[in-house]
Amino acid sequence: MLVLGLNMFHADASAAIVHDGEVVFAIAEERLNRRKHFGGFPSLAVKACLDAVAAKISDIDHVAVGQDSDANLSKKVQYALKNPAKILNFIRLRQRKEGMRNVRALLAKALDVDAAQLRFQEHHLEHHIAHIASAYYCSPWEKAAGFSYDGSGDFVSTMMARCEGNNIEILDRVFLPHSLGSFYTMICEFIGYKKYGDEGKVMGLAPYGKDTYCEQISKIIGLKNGGFQLDLDYFKPLGSNQGMQVLPDGTVKLARHFSDRMENLFGDPREPHNEITQRDMDLSFAMQHRFEEVFFHLLNELHGRVPVEDLAMAGGCALNSVANGKLFQTTPFRRTWIQPAAGDEGLAIGAALHTYHGVLQRPRRTELKHSYLGPEFSEASIESDLKTARLQYRKLNRESLLNEVAAQIAMGNVVGWFQGRMEWGPRALGNRSIVAHPGLPDMKDVLNARIKHREWFRPFAPSILAEHQHEYFEHDHPSPFMLHVYKIRPEKRQELCAVNHVDDTGRLQTVAREENPLYYDLIKAFQRKTGIPVVLNTSFNENEPIVCKPEEAIDCFRRTKMDVLAIGPFLALKSEN
Ligand SMILES: [Fe+2]
Repeated sequence: MLVLGLNMFHADASAAIVHDGEVVFAIAEERLNRRKHFGGFPSLAVKACLDAVAAKISDIDHVAVGQDSDANLSKKVQYALKNPAKILNFIRLRQRKEGMRNVRALLAKALDVDAAQLRFQEHHLEHHIAHIASAYYCSPWEKAAGFSYDGSGDFVSTMMARCEGNNIEILDRVFLPHSLGSFYTMICEFIGYKKYGDEGKVMGLAPYGKDTYCEQISKIIGLKNGGFQLDLDYFKPLGSNQGMQVLPDGTVKLARHFSDRMENLFGDPREPHNEITQRDMDLSFAMQHRFEEVFFHLLNELHGRVPVEDLAMAGGCALNSVANGKLFQTTPFRRTWIQPAAGDEGLAIGAALHTYHGVLQRPRRTELKHSYLGPEFSEASIESDLKTARLQYRKLNRESLLNEVAAQIAMGNVVGWFQGRMEWGPRALGNRSIVAHPGLPDMKDVLNARIKHREWFRPFAPSILAEHQHEYFEHDHPSPFMLHVYKIRPEKRQELCAVNHVDDTGRLQTVAREENPLYYDLIKAFQRKTGIPVVLNTSFNENEPIVCKPEEAIDCFRRTKMDVLAIGPFLALKSEN
C-alpha cells in the first residue's frame, strides 16, 4: 500500500511516501526549487516521491495532508466573533483555503494527468496530530507521551497526547492566540530577527546575555494548570493568518507580532542591519529562559497524565535543542524521540503515518533509525557533472578517500562532503555536510569568512562517534539528529574549541556506525590521525537551502573558498582548480 503525505500551502511544503508502513522517501520542496521555506504546493517533491518508488500518481492508495481547516472551527469562529475587525479576513481566508483543499485537482494539475484517473482516498489530519504522529510512529516505542508545540497550526499551538500501540489519544490542546512559539517569535522580531525560521539563530545568542529582563519577560507568558497564557497586551492582535502568511508565490512572510508595549518597556526595536546590543542579548537570554520554564512546566503536566519515561516530540519548537538537552534534568522523561524534521516539513511524514497506522489501523513494524530519506545520485551522474564543470578530480577507493579527506581535515582544510542520500529535516548529518577540524581556535572564523557568512554568535556543531559521547559530553542520551545541546566536559573544551559555544555547550550529532557507516568511518579515520573522535559539521550551503544535487555542491565549492570537495568517490582540490 502506498500513502503519499503532503504539507502544502504552508511553510516548508513537502512530500513523503510511505510504502506498507515504511517511510521510503521524503523531501522538502525548498531543496528542489531552491526557495528557502517555500510554502506553496510541493509539485517537485511529489514527483520525486513517485520516482523513488517508480509509481504513478494513479498507483497511490491514500493521500494524507497534515492540515485540516475544519479542525477547531468553533474556536476559530469564537475568536473571529470577539475580533469583529478580523471577520472579513477570516471569511476570505476560508474561501481561499477551499481551493487549496482540492487535493485531487491540485495533484492532477501538478502532474498533468486526468483527475478521473486518481483513485486514492483523501485524508486531512489536524496539524499537531500529524506532528505527534511523525515522532511517535517513527519511534521504537509501543507507549509514549506525545507532545507537539510550535507557533500555530489549525488554530492550536500545543498538543499533548497519550500514544499507545496504533493510537494517539489527544489529551489537551492550547488554542491560539496563546502560543509559546509566538512568544519566541515576537521577541526574535523585536531584536531584529524578522524572517521565518530565524528563531534557531537567536537561540545561539541567548547565552551571551545576562539575567537583566527575566522577571519582566516572564510576565509576558504566565503558567497555569495544564498550560500557559500569554499577556496579549505585548502582542499585536492575531490576524486571520495566525501570524504567518504564505504569499501566492509561496514566500512565507511573518506578520509583526510585538505591540507598542514592548517599545514602551524596552525601547526601539532593533533593525536587522544594526549592531546587536547588550539589551538584545539580555532579551534573548530572558526569552530562552522563560521558554524553557514553560516547556518544562508543560512536560511535567504531560508526565502527570502519561506517567512513562518516553517522550515522542515534534513541532517547530522541538528544534530548540538547548531546551531539549535540559529536559532530562528538569522532567521525569528519560528518553526522547524527536522527529528530525520537527518543523512543518515533517507533517508530510506524520500525515502519511497517521493515515496508515491510526486511521487504517495497519500494524507498526518499522522504526526510523536515520534521516537519510532524500535523493541520491549515481557515480556516473556525479562524474558527468564534474566534467561539465571542468573540475580536476581523482577517483579513489573507499579507504583512500577516507584517509585523504581525514588528512585534509587534520591539516585544517575545509571539506565539502557530499555522499549518499540527502538528509530529511533542517540538519546536515554527514551526507550534505561541510566538515572541518573541531579543535582549531580560528576554524569558526575561517568558515564564516570563507563560506558560511553567519552571525558571529552562532556556534558550529560537533559530530561525535557514539561510543565516545560520554567522554566528551556531560550527558549520554544519544542525539542522532543534532537536536540536543549538552555541556562539554571541562577537560575536553580546549580540544573541541571550534565547536564549544560561549556557555561551554555543543549541539552534538551522535554518529553510530549502523546509521551512517561512511561518515562514521570518516570520523574514525580523523581520530586515528588526531586522537579526536569528533569533526565539526555544518550544512553544505552558502545562504541557500542545503545542496541537494551534485551540480549544486560543485557550484558551492567553486564560488566559495572551500578547500576540498569529496563527492561520491571523487575528490577535487581547490588548489588544482
Ligand atoms: Fe507546525
